[in-house]
Amino acid sequence: MTAAGQAIADLDTPALLLDLDVLDRNLALMRKECERSGKALRVHFKSLKTGGLAKYLAAKGVTAFLCAKTNEAEVLVDGGITDVFVANQIIGPAKLARLARLAKRARVRVCVDDAGNVRQMGEAARAEGVTLEVLVEVDVGMSRCGVEPGRPTLELARAVVAEPGLRFVGLQAYDGQLQMLPDLNEKGQRCRAGLDQLLSTRQLLEASGVPIEVVTGAGTGTWSFTAEHPVMTELQPGSFLLMDAAYHAVRPEFACSLSILATVVSRRPGWYVLDAGSKAISQDFGKPLIKGHPEEKVVKLAEEHTKVEDEGGGPKVGQRREVYPAHCCATMNLHRRVVAVRGGAVEAVWPIESSGRYD
Ligand SMILES: Cc1ncc(COP(=O)(O)O)c(C=O)c1O
Repeated sequence: MTAAGQAIADLDTPALLLDLDVLDRNLALMRKECERSGKALRVHFKSLKTGGLAKYLAAKGVTAFLCAKTNEAEVLVDGGITDVFVANQIIGPAKLARLARLAKRARVRVCVDDAGNVRQMGEAARAEGVTLEVLVEVDVGMSRCGVEPGRPTLELARAVVAEPGLRFVGLQAYDGQLQMLPDLNEKGQRCRAGLDQLLSTRQLLEASGVPIEVVTGAGTGTWSFTAEHPVMTELQPGSFLLMDAAYHAVRPEFACSLSILATVVSRRPGWYVLDAGSKAISQDFGKPLIKGHPEEKVVKLAEEHTKVEDEGGGPKVGQRREVYPAHCCATMNLHRRVVAVRGGAVEAVWPIESSGRYD
Protein backbone atom coordinates (compact mmCIF):
# COMPACT_ATOMS: atom_id res chain seq x y z
CA MET A 1 0.00 0.00 0.00
CA THR A 2 1.45 3.34 -1.05
CA ALA A 3 0.33 6.18 1.20
CA ALA A 4 0.95 9.90 1.65
CA GLY A 5 4.04 10.60 3.72
CA GLN A 6 5.83 7.39 2.71
CA ALA A 7 9.47 7.87 1.66
CA ILE A 8 10.26 7.25 -2.01
CA ALA A 9 13.03 4.95 -0.80
CA ASP A 10 10.36 2.67 0.73
CA LEU A 11 8.25 2.30 -2.44
CA ASP A 12 8.11 -1.02 -4.21
CA THR A 13 9.10 -0.96 -7.88
CA PRO A 14 8.40 -0.35 -10.66
CA ALA A 15 6.53 2.82 -9.67
CA LEU A 16 5.52 5.76 -11.85
CA LEU A 17 6.60 8.95 -10.06
CA LEU A 18 5.55 12.53 -10.67
CA ASP A 19 7.73 15.17 -9.02
CA LEU A 20 5.32 17.97 -8.13
CA ASP A 21 8.04 20.56 -7.45
CA VAL A 22 9.36 20.10 -11.00
CA LEU A 23 5.84 20.11 -12.44
CA ASP A 24 5.04 23.34 -10.53
CA ARG A 25 8.10 25.03 -12.03
CA ASN A 26 7.15 23.93 -15.56
CA LEU A 27 3.65 25.28 -15.02
CA ALA A 28 4.90 28.58 -13.60
CA LEU A 29 7.12 29.19 -16.63
CA MET A 30 4.36 28.48 -19.14
CA ARG A 31 1.82 30.60 -17.24
CA LYS A 32 4.21 33.51 -16.94
CA GLU A 33 4.90 33.46 -20.68
CA CYS A 34 1.22 33.11 -21.56
CA GLU A 35 0.39 36.08 -19.34
CA ARG A 36 3.22 38.13 -20.83
CA SER A 37 2.07 37.42 -24.39
CA GLY A 38 -1.64 37.82 -23.61
CA LYS A 39 -2.63 34.24 -24.48
CA ALA A 40 -4.95 32.00 -22.52
CA LEU A 41 -3.54 28.64 -21.43
CA ARG A 42 -5.46 25.41 -21.99
CA VAL A 43 -3.69 22.25 -20.78
CA HIS A 44 -3.76 19.06 -22.85
CA PHE A 45 -5.10 16.15 -20.79
CA LYS A 46 -4.12 13.44 -23.31
CA SER A 47 -0.69 13.62 -21.66
CA LEU A 48 -1.95 13.65 -18.06
CA LYS A 49 -4.86 11.17 -18.16
CA THR A 50 -5.41 11.36 -14.38
CA GLY A 51 -8.25 13.30 -12.81
CA GLY A 52 -6.14 13.74 -9.66
CA LEU A 53 -3.64 15.86 -11.54
CA ALA A 54 -6.42 17.83 -13.26
CA LYS A 55 -7.84 18.65 -9.83
CA TYR A 56 -4.37 19.56 -8.54
CA LEU A 57 -3.96 21.99 -11.47
CA ALA A 58 -7.46 23.38 -11.04
CA ALA A 59 -6.63 24.22 -7.41
CA LYS A 60 -3.75 26.28 -8.82
CA GLY A 61 -6.10 28.13 -11.15
CA VAL A 62 -5.69 26.08 -14.35
CA THR A 63 -9.32 25.57 -15.25
CA ALA A 64 -9.32 25.07 -19.04
CA PHE A 65 -8.36 21.68 -20.47
CA LEU A 66 -8.36 19.97 -23.81
CA CYS A 67 -8.23 16.29 -24.56
CA ALA A 68 -8.19 13.86 -27.48
CA LYS A 69 -10.88 11.35 -26.54
CA THR A 70 -14.42 11.29 -25.19
CA ASN A 71 -13.42 9.21 -22.14
CA GLU A 72 -10.80 11.83 -21.24
CA ALA A 73 -13.47 14.54 -21.39
CA GLU A 74 -15.63 12.42 -19.06
CA VAL A 75 -12.78 11.97 -16.58
CA LEU A 76 -12.21 15.74 -16.60
CA VAL A 77 -15.87 16.57 -16.00
CA ASP A 78 -16.14 13.87 -13.31
CA GLY A 79 -13.15 15.59 -11.68
CA GLY A 80 -15.06 18.88 -11.54
CA ILE A 81 -13.52 20.57 -14.59
CA THR A 82 -16.13 22.70 -16.32
CA ASP A 83 -14.26 23.96 -19.41
CA VAL A 84 -13.35 21.05 -21.69
CA PHE A 85 -12.33 21.05 -25.35
CA VAL A 86 -12.13 17.76 -27.25
CA ALA A 87 -9.55 18.74 -29.86
CA ASN A 88 -10.46 15.94 -32.20
CA GLN A 89 -13.14 14.68 -34.56
CA ILE A 90 -15.96 12.97 -32.65
CA ILE A 91 -17.68 10.67 -35.10
CA GLY A 92 -20.75 8.45 -34.81
CA PRO A 93 -23.98 8.65 -32.79
CA ALA A 94 -22.68 6.84 -29.68
CA LYS A 95 -19.80 9.22 -28.99
CA LEU A 96 -21.77 12.28 -30.08
CA ALA A 97 -24.49 11.40 -27.56
CA ARG A 98 -21.84 11.05 -24.80
CA LEU A 99 -20.42 14.42 -25.75
CA ALA A 100 -23.83 16.07 -25.73
CA ARG A 101 -24.61 14.56 -22.31
CA LEU A 102 -21.38 16.03 -20.96
CA ALA A 103 -22.48 19.47 -22.13
CA LYS A 104 -25.19 19.34 -19.43
CA ARG A 105 -22.42 19.42 -16.80
CA ALA A 106 -19.69 21.55 -18.40
CA ARG A 107 -18.90 23.86 -21.28
CA VAL A 108 -17.90 21.44 -24.03
CA ARG A 109 -16.00 22.41 -27.15
CA VAL A 110 -15.16 20.12 -30.02
CA CYS A 111 -13.42 20.19 -33.42
CA VAL A 112 -14.98 19.46 -36.79
CA ASP A 113 -13.61 19.03 -40.29
CA ASP A 114 -16.62 17.49 -42.05
CA ALA A 115 -20.05 18.86 -42.96
CA GLY A 116 -21.83 15.51 -42.37
CA ASN A 117 -20.35 15.37 -38.88
CA VAL A 118 -21.61 18.91 -38.27
CA ARG A 119 -25.19 17.81 -39.05
CA GLN A 120 -24.99 14.72 -36.81
CA MET A 121 -23.43 16.78 -34.04
CA GLY A 122 -26.28 19.28 -34.26
CA GLU A 123 -28.82 16.41 -34.02
CA ALA A 124 -27.03 14.99 -30.95
CA ALA A 125 -26.96 18.41 -29.25
CA ARG A 126 -30.66 19.04 -29.95
CA ALA A 127 -31.60 15.56 -28.69
CA GLU A 128 -30.04 16.42 -25.31
CA GLY A 129 -31.22 20.04 -25.34
CA VAL A 130 -27.66 21.41 -25.10
CA THR A 131 -25.36 23.65 -27.10
CA LEU A 132 -21.99 22.35 -28.20
CA GLU A 133 -19.29 24.92 -28.92
CA VAL A 134 -17.51 24.11 -32.16
CA LEU A 135 -14.10 24.97 -33.61
CA VAL A 136 -13.23 24.24 -37.21
CA GLU A 137 -9.92 22.40 -37.36
CA VAL A 138 -7.59 23.94 -39.94
CA ASP A 139 -4.69 21.98 -41.41
CA VAL A 140 -1.64 24.24 -41.39
CA GLY A 141 0.82 21.59 -42.54
CA MET A 142 0.43 18.52 -40.33
CA SER A 143 -1.67 16.67 -42.94
CA ARG A 144 -3.68 14.80 -40.30
CA CYS A 145 -7.21 16.02 -39.65
CA GLY A 146 -8.57 19.45 -40.56
CA VAL A 147 -9.74 21.38 -43.59
CA GLU A 148 -7.59 23.51 -45.85
CA PRO A 149 -7.10 27.12 -44.80
CA GLY A 150 -9.06 29.80 -46.70
CA ARG A 151 -12.42 29.13 -48.37
CA PRO A 152 -12.87 25.49 -47.21
CA THR A 153 -12.59 26.73 -43.61
CA LEU A 154 -15.08 29.55 -44.29
CA GLU A 155 -17.60 27.12 -45.84
CA LEU A 156 -17.42 24.69 -42.92
CA ALA A 157 -17.66 27.53 -40.40
CA ARG A 158 -20.85 28.71 -42.16
CA ALA A 159 -22.27 25.17 -41.91
CA VAL A 160 -21.64 25.25 -38.15
CA VAL A 161 -23.21 28.70 -37.80
CA ALA A 162 -26.32 27.41 -39.64
CA GLU A 163 -26.70 24.29 -37.47
CA PRO A 164 -29.08 24.64 -34.49
CA GLY A 165 -27.60 23.17 -31.31
CA LEU A 166 -24.08 24.25 -32.26
CA ARG A 167 -22.28 27.51 -31.60
CA PHE A 168 -19.31 28.36 -33.80
CA VAL A 169 -16.53 29.77 -31.59
CA GLY A 170 -13.43 29.68 -33.74
CA LEU A 171 -10.50 27.77 -35.17
CA GLN A 172 -8.04 25.15 -34.03
CA ALA A 173 -4.75 24.49 -35.82
CA TYR A 174 -2.10 22.16 -34.41
CA ASP A 175 1.36 21.95 -35.98
CA GLY A 176 2.27 18.47 -34.75
CA GLN A 177 4.77 17.94 -37.56
CA LEU A 178 7.04 20.60 -36.03
CA GLN A 179 7.01 19.67 -32.36
CA MET A 180 10.18 17.54 -32.30
CA LEU A 181 12.24 19.53 -34.83
CA PRO A 182 15.56 20.21 -33.09
CA ASP A 183 16.52 23.30 -35.11
CA LEU A 184 14.75 26.22 -33.45
CA ASN A 185 15.32 28.56 -36.41
CA GLU A 186 13.71 26.17 -38.86
CA LYS A 187 10.96 25.36 -36.38
CA GLY A 188 10.23 29.05 -35.83
CA GLN A 189 10.08 29.82 -39.55
CA ARG A 190 7.81 26.91 -40.39
CA CYS A 191 5.60 27.56 -37.37
CA ARG A 192 5.14 31.23 -38.32
CA ALA A 193 4.39 30.27 -41.94
CA GLY A 194 1.51 28.07 -40.76
CA LEU A 195 0.26 30.72 -38.38
CA ASP A 196 0.36 33.35 -41.15
CA GLN A 197 -1.95 31.11 -43.22
CA LEU A 198 -4.20 30.82 -40.21
CA LEU A 199 -4.24 34.60 -39.78
CA SER A 200 -5.33 35.09 -43.42
CA THR A 201 -8.07 32.52 -42.85
CA ARG A 202 -9.21 34.27 -39.68
CA GLN A 203 -9.31 37.58 -41.55
CA LEU A 204 -11.30 35.99 -44.39
CA LEU A 205 -13.92 34.68 -41.96
CA GLU A 206 -14.18 37.97 -40.09
CA ALA A 207 -14.48 39.93 -43.36
CA SER A 208 -17.23 37.49 -44.39
CA GLY A 209 -19.27 38.20 -41.26
CA VAL A 210 -18.25 35.11 -39.27
CA PRO A 211 -16.90 36.42 -35.96
CA ILE A 212 -14.17 34.44 -34.18
CA GLU A 213 -13.76 34.25 -30.41
CA VAL A 214 -11.06 31.61 -30.10
CA VAL A 215 -8.05 30.57 -32.14
CA THR A 216 -6.13 27.80 -30.43
CA GLY A 217 -3.18 25.52 -31.09
CA ALA A 218 0.50 24.86 -30.34
CA GLY A 219 2.29 22.16 -28.41
CA THR A 220 5.27 21.99 -26.10
CA GLY A 221 7.58 22.12 -29.13
CA THR A 222 6.10 25.25 -30.75
CA TRP A 223 4.67 27.13 -27.77
CA SER A 224 7.15 30.02 -27.79
CA PHE A 225 6.67 30.92 -31.48
CA THR A 226 2.92 30.65 -31.17
CA ALA A 227 2.92 32.88 -28.08
CA GLU A 228 4.56 35.62 -30.14
CA HIS A 229 2.17 35.40 -33.12
CA PRO A 230 -0.96 37.57 -33.11
CA VAL A 231 -3.38 34.99 -34.55
CA MET A 232 -3.76 32.71 -31.52
CA THR A 233 -5.87 33.61 -28.50
CA GLU A 234 -4.96 30.42 -26.64
CA LEU A 235 -2.11 27.87 -26.37
CA GLN A 236 -2.88 24.19 -25.82
CA PRO A 237 0.29 22.29 -24.82
CA GLY A 238 0.31 19.33 -22.43
CA SER A 239 3.65 17.53 -22.31
CA PHE A 240 5.44 20.57 -20.85
CA LEU A 241 4.12 19.57 -17.42
CA LEU A 242 5.45 16.00 -17.38
CA MET A 243 8.14 16.17 -20.05
CA ASP A 244 10.28 13.28 -21.28
CA ALA A 245 13.73 12.57 -22.63
CA ALA A 246 12.77 13.30 -26.27
CA TYR A 247 10.98 16.59 -25.58
CA HIS A 248 13.60 17.74 -23.06
CA ALA A 249 16.28 17.40 -25.75
CA VAL A 250 14.50 20.00 -27.91
CA ARG A 251 12.82 22.06 -25.16
CA PRO A 252 15.29 22.15 -22.25
CA GLU A 253 13.45 25.03 -20.56
CA PHE A 254 11.06 22.41 -19.14
CA ALA A 255 12.43 19.71 -16.82
CA CYS A 256 11.28 16.09 -16.57
CA SER A 257 8.84 15.59 -13.70
CA LEU A 258 7.79 12.06 -14.72
CA SER A 259 10.01 9.04 -14.08
CA ILE A 260 9.80 5.32 -13.46
CA LEU A 261 11.42 4.16 -10.25
CA ALA A 262 13.07 0.78 -10.87
CA THR A 263 15.30 -1.69 -9.03
CA VAL A 264 18.47 -3.36 -10.33
CA VAL A 265 17.64 -7.07 -10.50
CA SER A 266 20.82 -8.31 -12.19
CA ARG A 267 24.40 -7.09 -12.56
CA ARG A 268 27.22 -8.26 -14.85
CA PRO A 269 30.52 -6.58 -15.72
CA GLY A 270 29.56 -3.71 -18.03
CA TRP A 271 25.79 -3.74 -17.58
CA TYR A 272 22.90 -3.96 -15.18
CA VAL A 273 19.23 -4.84 -15.61
CA LEU A 274 16.21 -2.97 -14.17
CA ASP A 275 12.85 -4.48 -13.21
CA ALA A 276 10.82 -2.21 -15.56
CA GLY A 277 10.67 -2.83 -19.30
CA SER A 278 8.56 -1.92 -22.29
CA LYS A 279 5.33 -2.65 -20.38
CA ALA A 280 6.18 0.23 -18.01
CA ILE A 281 8.26 2.57 -20.21
CA SER A 282 7.06 3.67 -23.63
CA GLN A 283 9.80 3.63 -26.24
CA ASP A 284 7.89 4.88 -29.26
CA PHE A 285 9.98 8.10 -29.22
CA GLY A 286 13.28 6.34 -28.50
CA LYS A 287 15.29 5.00 -25.60
CA PRO A 288 14.77 6.27 -22.05
CA LEU A 289 17.48 7.98 -19.99
CA ILE A 290 18.76 7.20 -16.50
CA LYS A 291 18.10 10.21 -14.26
CA GLY A 292 21.29 11.79 -12.95
CA HIS A 293 23.55 9.26 -14.69
CA PRO A 294 24.22 10.30 -18.30
CA GLU A 295 27.18 7.87 -18.40
CA GLU A 296 24.78 4.91 -18.01
CA LYS A 297 23.17 4.07 -21.36
CA VAL A 298 19.94 2.18 -21.91
CA VAL A 299 20.60 -0.29 -24.72
CA LYS A 300 17.52 -2.54 -24.75
CA LEU A 301 14.04 -2.87 -23.35
CA ALA A 302 12.35 -6.25 -23.05
CA GLU A 303 8.84 -6.58 -21.64
CA GLU A 304 9.91 -6.62 -17.98
CA HIS A 305 13.59 -5.69 -18.20
CA THR A 306 15.71 -2.74 -19.20
CA LYS A 307 19.39 -3.38 -19.93
CA VAL A 308 21.70 -0.49 -19.09
CA GLU A 309 25.39 -0.41 -20.02
CA ASP A 310 27.85 1.27 -17.70
CA GLU A 311 31.54 1.07 -17.05
CA GLY A 312 30.93 -1.36 -14.23
CA GLY A 313 30.92 1.29 -11.52
CA GLY A 314 27.14 1.70 -11.53
CA PRO A 315 24.52 0.33 -9.16
CA LYS A 316 24.49 -3.13 -7.58
CA VAL A 317 21.60 -5.60 -7.34
CA GLY A 318 18.90 -4.13 -5.09
CA GLN A 319 19.89 -0.51 -5.71
CA ARG A 320 17.52 1.81 -7.58
CA ARG A 321 17.46 4.11 -10.52
CA GLU A 322 14.87 6.54 -11.90
CA VAL A 323 14.22 6.31 -15.62
CA TYR A 324 13.05 9.22 -17.76
CA PRO A 325 10.81 7.79 -20.50
CA ALA A 326 11.24 9.06 -24.07
CA HIS A 327 7.47 9.68 -24.39
CA CYS A 328 5.50 10.84 -21.36
CA CYS A 329 1.98 10.58 -22.83
CA ALA A 330 2.36 6.96 -23.96
CA THR A 331 4.01 6.06 -20.63
CA MET A 332 1.06 7.46 -18.64
CA ASN A 333 -1.11 5.23 -20.81
CA LEU A 334 0.78 2.12 -19.60
CA HIS A 335 0.18 2.67 -15.88
CA ARG A 336 -2.89 2.43 -13.66
CA ARG A 337 -1.70 4.93 -11.06
CA VAL A 338 0.91 7.62 -10.58
CA VAL A 339 2.65 8.47 -7.30
CA ALA A 340 2.87 12.24 -6.84
CA VAL A 341 6.00 13.03 -4.81
CA ARG A 342 7.60 16.09 -3.29
CA GLY A 343 10.88 16.39 -1.40
CA GLY A 344 11.52 12.64 -1.34
CA ALA A 345 8.09 11.63 0.02
CA VAL A 346 4.70 10.64 -1.37
CA GLU A 347 2.13 13.45 -1.48
CA ALA A 348 -0.69 11.59 -3.24
CA VAL A 349 -1.48 8.51 -5.29
CA TRP A 350 -3.69 9.21 -8.30
CA PRO A 351 -5.48 6.61 -10.41
CA ILE A 352 -4.91 7.15 -14.14
CA GLU A 353 -8.54 6.74 -15.16
CA SER A 354 -7.97 7.20 -18.90
CA SER A 355 -5.05 4.77 -19.05
CA GLY A 356 -5.50 2.10 -21.70
CA ARG A 357 -8.78 3.58 -22.95
CA TYR A 358 -9.30 4.46 -26.60
CA ASP A 359 -12.94 5.50 -26.52
C1 LIG B 1 -4.53 18.71 -31.06
C2 LIG B 1 -3.30 18.81 -30.22
N1 LIG B 1 -3.02 19.96 -29.60
C3 LIG B 1 -1.90 20.12 -28.85
C4 LIG B 1 -1.01 19.08 -28.69
C5 LIG B 1 0.22 19.39 -27.92
O1 LIG B 1 0.64 18.49 -27.03
P1 LIG B 1 2.12 18.48 -26.47
O2 LIG B 1 2.30 19.69 -25.65
O3 LIG B 1 2.10 17.24 -25.67
O4 LIG B 1 3.07 18.44 -27.60
C6 LIG B 1 -1.26 17.83 -29.33
C7 LIG B 1 -0.35 16.70 -29.18
O5 LIG B 1 -0.54 15.61 -29.66
C8 LIG B 1 -2.43 17.70 -30.11
O6 LIG B 1 -2.73 16.56 -30.75
